Amino acid sequence: MPQLAYTTQPIVAPSILSADFARLADALATLETAGADWVHIDVMDGHFVPNLTIGPPVIECLREHSQLPFDVHLMIEHPERSLANYKAAGADLLTVHVETCPHLNRVIHQIKELDALAGVSLNPATPLSSIEEVLDIVDLVLIMSVNPGFGGQRFIPQTLDKLQRLKAMIGSRPIFIEVDGGISPQNAQSVRKAGAQVLVSGSAIFQANQEMKSVITQLRMPHKASTSCSG
Ligand code: DX5
Ligand code: ZN
Repeated sequence: MPQLAYTTQPIVAPSILSADFARLADALATLETAGADWVHIDVMDGHFVPNLTIGPPVIECLREHSQLPFDVHLMIEHPERSLANYKAAGADLLTVHVETCPHLNRVIHQIKELDALAGVSLNPATPLSSIEEVLDIVDLVLIMSVNPGFGGQRFIPQTLDKLQRLKAMIGSRPIFIEVDGGISPQNAQSVRKAGAQVLVSGSAIFQANQEMKSVITQLRMPHKASTSCSG
C-alpha cells in the first residue's frame, strides 16, 4: 500500500456507509473503477453517535479488496484504546473527534507513532478554537456538515463560513481540509470554494448507481474561479 502523502489535488472519498453492507467488497471494486481517490469508512459505536457500524475485523477483510487509501472516521468514545487495532486492520488515515479527546495532543501523537496520518474532526456545533493548538501536528481537519450518525442528511449551510475560517487559520500548513455530510454535485463547488479539498460523499454517490463515475468526476472538479461581470 503506497504511503498516503499530502497533495493539493482535489480528493473524493466515497463513504461506504451508503453501500449495501452485504456486498461491501463489490462496493470497493465499483468505487475503484469509478475513480474514487480514497475510501471513507465510518466507524460508529452507538455511544458517541446513535448508530453502530463496523470495527477492525471488517476493515481487515475489506483491506484485501482495495488498493485505495482507507480514510477511517472514528465516531467512537475513547478512540485512544483502539487506534492500533484500526491501523493494523489497514487504516491509512485515522480521524478522531475532538469531542471525544480531552488529551487531543497525546492522541494525535499516538496516531503518528503508528505511522498513519492523523485527522481531527469537529461536529457542527464545535468551534474551530478547539483545534487551534494542534494545527502544527495534524495532517487533516474534518469539518462535519451534518450531525454525525447517519448518511443521507441535509448539508448545514453554516459549514461554508466555518470552512473559510478554517482555511484562513491553517494558512500555508500542509493540512487536508475534509468536509463530510450532505455533499453532492449541487454543493461541491461551494464547499471547494470555501476551502474544502477532500469531499466525502455517501448517498449522492451510491444512489447514482450507473452514473457513479460521473458523480465522482463532478465532485472532483476544481471550483471555478469567480468571474466579475463587467457589463
Ligand atoms: C455521517 C458520516 C458520513 C456519511 C456521509 O455521520 O460521517 O460519512 O456517511 O453520507 P452522506 O453523504 O449521505 O451525508
Ligand atoms: Zn464520515
